[in-house]
Amino acid sequence: MAELGVEVPGLALANPLMLASGVQGGTAAALHRVAASRCGGLVSKSIGPVAREIYPGPVCVESTDSVVLNAMGLPNPGVDSFTEMLSQNEFSKPMLVSIFGPDAESVADIAKKMEAAGATALELNLSCPHAKPGSRALIVGQQPELIKEYISAVKQAVGIPVYAKLTPNTAQVSTEAGAALEAGADGVSLINTVSALEVDPYAGRPIIGNLLCGMSGPSIRPIAQRKVAEVALAMRRGEIPTAPILAMGGITTGLDVARFIMLGATAVQIGSALIYGDADVFGEIENELNEFMDVQGYSDLESMRGIALDTMEGLN
Ligand code: FUM
Repeated sequence: MAELGVEVPGLALANPLMLASGVQGGTAAALHRVAASRCGGLVSKSIGPVAREIYPGPVCVESTDSVVLNAMGLPNPGVDSFTEMLSQNEFSKPMLVSIFGPDAESVADIAKKMEAAGATALELNLSCPHAKPGSRALIVGQQPELIKEYISAVKQAVGIPVYAKLTPNTAQVSTEAGAALEAGADGVSLINTVSALEVDPYAGRPIIGNLLCGMSGPSIRPIAQRKVAEVALAMRRGEIPTAPILAMGGITTGLDVARFIMLGATAVQIGSALIYGDADVFGEIENELNEFMDVQGYSDLESMRGIALDTMEGLN
């Protein structure tokens, strides 16, 4: 069996398979349920300054095969309720706590409260593709200066590692990754959902309650792979600081995990696969990854990491 353990700032993972933010990470019960699976780690639902209700539905639809559309509205219990839960629970897997806020001061304040409640690492959600035009949430992850402001504020507020979760909805994601890392981020997570819109022709209106939505599911995996490669290549060339990449976007099999590791990812996050199945999917993906590595002769993740970039060095 291959060695699948991986260490990234703030998290020692028994395998590289993490629960992605937003899927099952909003309550203690859901987090314990996923932790009992063979996942390597957890990412909580994104937690903001105050409790938010879910948007009017439909909030999540598989519109065609492998295309998952959602606009949930960042529903969450709010930082005070979440920190109370965090300090009363011990989870059996390491957890990255995802946070968001309307401005740098607010996310720094949330970050401090999470650290005080025992969080060992934070993921700062800088994007929300379904947000309405004019909303600050739409633009933070698309503006390197704002990314720097948010990350710097959080890094000054806490001593624990901070990962920047990046949107794919920009021209060149290595620019935003560079901004986050130069401001002190300890790693980057990518990609969040792809901006999308779908119409129900019978109803004559968009199918998602919020109208605009984000797209995930297996159909976005090649987009995610390209974005991860852009960031990993920029790191290789020394154009941006080197740091762990937590990759996500449509991963449903062990081969998908291998693809992302070969493109330079250190670990991966899995979300929409849990829409199709339950948390047992982590065990199935781990088995597939192990079998692939055994047959191909990879003894550990390090021997696979980044090998697909070797043929891409000359790209710009
Ligand atoms: O609607 C949502 O809760 C999505 C959040 C995100 O994409 O970050």
